Amino acid sequence: STAGKVIKCKAAVAWEPNKPLVIEEIEVAPPEANEVRIKIVATGLCHSDLYHLYEGMHKDGFPTILGHEAAGIVESIGPGVTEFQPGDKVIPIFLSQCKECCFCKSPKTNQCIVAWKRVIMESLVGAESRITCKGKKIFQFVGTSTFSEYTVIDQIAVAKIDPAAPLDKVCLIGCGICTGYGAAVNTAKVDSGSTCAVFGLGAVGLAAVMGCKAAGAKRIIAVDINPEKADKAKVLGATNYVNPKDHNKPIHEVLAEMTNGGVDFSVECVGRVDVMRSALESCLPAWGVCVIVGWTQVSEVAIQPTDLIAGRTLKGSLFGGFKSKDGVPQMVKAYMDKKLQVDEFITHNMTLDQINDAIELMKLGKCIRTVMNV
Ligand code: APR
Ligand code: ZN
Repeated sequence: STAGKVIKCKAAVAWEPNKPLVIEEIEVAPPEANEVRIKIVATGLCHSDLYHLYEGMHKDGFPTILGHEAAGIVESIGPGVTEFQPGDKVIPIFLSQCKECCFCKSPKTNQCIVAWKRVIMESLVGAESRITCKGKKIFQFVGTSTFSEYTVIDQIAVAKIDPAAPLDKVCLIGCGICTGYGAAVNTAKVDSGSTCAVFGLGAVGLAAVMGCKAAGAKRIIAVDINPEKADKAKVLGATNYVNPKDHNKPIHEVLAEMTNGGVDFSVECVGRVDVMRSALESCLPAWGVCVIVGWTQVSEVAIQPTDLIAGRTLKGSLFGGFKSKDGVPQMVKAYMDKKLQVDEFITHNMTLDQINDAIELMKLGKCIRTVMNV
């Protein structure tokens, strides 16, 4: 058994921003109190990994191991862990649920104070790390680091899932699927018969489309500047596709004409401040709700106060508003019960060695999700 011992294994290390990842041998220490060591089986690549690598400007956040959308098997547990056993199938989560803080105890939020301290306040840099490479401490990006054969994670950021779940599919529930689906269902609270617009048709936006449909939306307008995304959006429930580049007036005016003045709900799944403003302006005055999902910290969004005074609501959503440890197993169950589509999001399968190819595909907009066998 490897329990209690340092594990030497393979991982994709990001030594510095804007450089390809390097497959290295790393050392993963045994889990300490309340931690679990996980053998990662499959991991997706999400736009947030790229954001950290190329845009986040957290020069202090390197070297790091990226990756936060994964599934694996518990290898060993640290002192004080009673919820997990070696062999359990799990999904790591970047947003913890300690179940003890005032946020966790409130039904009003899925935020967790521990998560704010560990990860988010440090601008998604990372938590305390159990990983070293060539004698250097490696940051654990958002506390997970799933581009690695093994990782160590605090038990408040690990969800136990159905042992029958296929890990090379449900890994996507660890980020993109919950983030988009929940933004529509939990945060926007899309209601039946409504008209929705989803901006950005990556995995997050497509999951938002799926969430709008599940909530009973009558019209779902999918917006993306890449027309190759239109077909998949329709598979997941979009009723219309609009390419802003096909029009010579602002996209919110196009949507207003299509909908008698604006949509009931809009969800921004791009991470660009100009699109955020468009998403807000696309909402109907009086009751339109705009939810921001796309992540950026490098620029600010300008809005016209009267857009809000007129009755629109602007909200943000992290991990789709799901309390993470509770929500992830439920979403896995929904998939197993065939009430949630996941396979449709996987356009490429690779191995971890091919991570830089997966990054290239995402940069070029040629994939929805690449799942890598680790
Ligand atoms: N208008 C509409 N769509 C756009 C625009 C634009 N101006 N610019 C880019 N897009 C589209 C891209 O063509 C792409 O299809 O947004 C989509 C983004 O998809 P991905 O890069 O696959 O990203 P994804 O993993 O879905 O994440 C989206 O959510 O969680 C956040 O950090 C994440 O900000 C990121 C966002
Ligand atoms: Zn908490």
